[in-house]
Amino acid sequence: MPFSRRDFIITGSKAAAVAGLTHLAPGALAAAQTAADDKINIALIGCRNMGFGDLQNALKLPGITCGALCDVDQDILDKRTAEVEKIQGKRPLQYKDYRKLLENKDIDAVIIGTPDHWHCLPFVEACQAGKHIYVEKPLANSIAECDLMVKAARKHQRIVQVGQQQRSGTIWKNAMDRIKAGDIGQLRKVNIWANFNYGIGQPKMPDEPVPAGVDYDRWLGPAPARSFNRTRFHGNWRMFWDYGGGLMTDWGVHLLDMALWAKDTRDLPLSVVAAGGNFSYPDHAHETFDTMQVTYQLKDQIISWENTAGVQNGPYGLSYGLAFIGNDATMVINREQMEIFPEIVDNKPKVPAVPKQTGTDSHDLHMKDFIDCIRTGKEPVCPVETGRLAAVYAHMGNIALRTGSTLTWNNNEHRFNNNTAANALITPSYRAPWKLPAL
Ligand SMILES: NC(=O)c1ccc[n+]([C@@H]2O[C@H](COP(=O)([O-])OP(=O)(O)OC[C@H]3O[C@@H](n4cnc5c(N)ncnc54)[C@H](O)[C@@H]3O)[C@@H](O)[C@H]2O)c1
Repeated sequence: MPFSRRDFIITGSKAAAVAGLTHLAPGALAAAQTAADDKINIALIGCRNMGFGDLQNALKLPGITCGALCDVDQDILDKRTAEVEKIQGKRPLQYKDYRKLLENKDIDAVIIGTPDHWHCLPFVEACQAGKHIYVEKPLANSIAECDLMVKAARKHQRIVQVGQQQRSGTIWKNAMDRIKAGDIGQLRKVNIWANFNYGIGQPKMPDEPVPAGVDYDRWLGPAPARSFNRTRFHGNWRMFWDYGGGLMTDWGVHLLDMALWAKDTRDLPLSVVAAGGNFSYPDHAHETFDTMQVTYQLKDQIISWENTAGVQNGPYGLSYGLAFIGNDATMVINREQMEIFPEIVDNKPKVPAVPKQTGTDSHDLHMKDFIDCIRTGKEPVCPVETGRLAAVYAHMGNIALRTGSTLTWNNNEHRFNNNTAANALITPSYRAPWKLPAL
């Protein structure tokens, strides 16, 4: 059988992965350089919003084509097909079933832009089909699914980039360098907040017939069967436990990831405690918490999370952000700006103040890193383990509040110590015929 272009790209990456390389070995350079001239054919699963943004960024890069699109809503599929055709001059194939798309041997890599409850299955099956994967965040909608996805990616040696694009953001990289260089002194506490109007969901509406062209049963997939309601559908699913985790996971993974990056934390927290509830907007459709605070105890610091949905104000005049609190200064940062406020002792600042610096969007850089890594075999800046860690932290915040308990994690047994209610939320039960993958 002839050695195909796709085998070539995969072999280069595989070789580096087998060797456990995070940087390219000299011996792999020739293959990588040749592969860099080669084309990479991408497919998108879940085309409405973020996934399509990711695809557009990929198509700006040299050598990238889009061979196929998959969605369960025919209107979206048609609209995005026409847009891709306009961009690249060639019409991509259409699929409604991602499993059929994964059988297409001409596809080298997939972007997974489905709602969170629909990340794990296509991801694991894409690994098994030999595709590289850009998967949107949060990695999955449960702790057990995240763990399976790490296992699948490593077993099949796939290049995986999780869509926590702040890992590619210059403002964040500079901030991490400053913290690690000691610019704010010893870091003991990180305060994180995310206050957004959308967190309260949409005004309540009655159930309706399924819109024409939508395969709603497939949209629900492994989630429980229920009648169609717009307030739980496109874009709005985030506020319902069957499909998402509210602001805690939607924004939590992005911002917790930054808190964990500051000390290159790889461990789960020693304990998690939460308070809050659904206190506002009873006329809006949401199950996830509009008001919550979570405290993560780590060995040498605490990380605190809070979200107030339906409110857009926050500390330091920012609707979302992080305050890294060190002995010598506090760094306040979000995607748009970073500032350092020194502690004042004897009327003198302990460290130089850093006036406001601005940041820019980093989605395009994050996609470029993924594509570069497919060609070189390097580890992307947000590998599957990094996505899993941030997602598990976020899920733990929700589980602590849903069970009204202080959580402690037993790493050996992979469950919460003697906490039946919390353990019951680790693994979702999939609706037949869908099955949680067994690896
Ligand atoms: N990185 C970021 O900053 C960022 C921003 C927004 C969203 N996201 C993430 O992107 C993902 C998608 O979010 P969104 O806002 O685009 O959601 P969305 O509801 O707007 O779009 C999801 C699309 O997936 C399709 N879909 C659902 N089930 C499918 C299936 N089985 N097969 C194929 N298509 C299916 C839907 O029909 C829809 O077109 C989420 O995981 C979200 O958290 C990330």
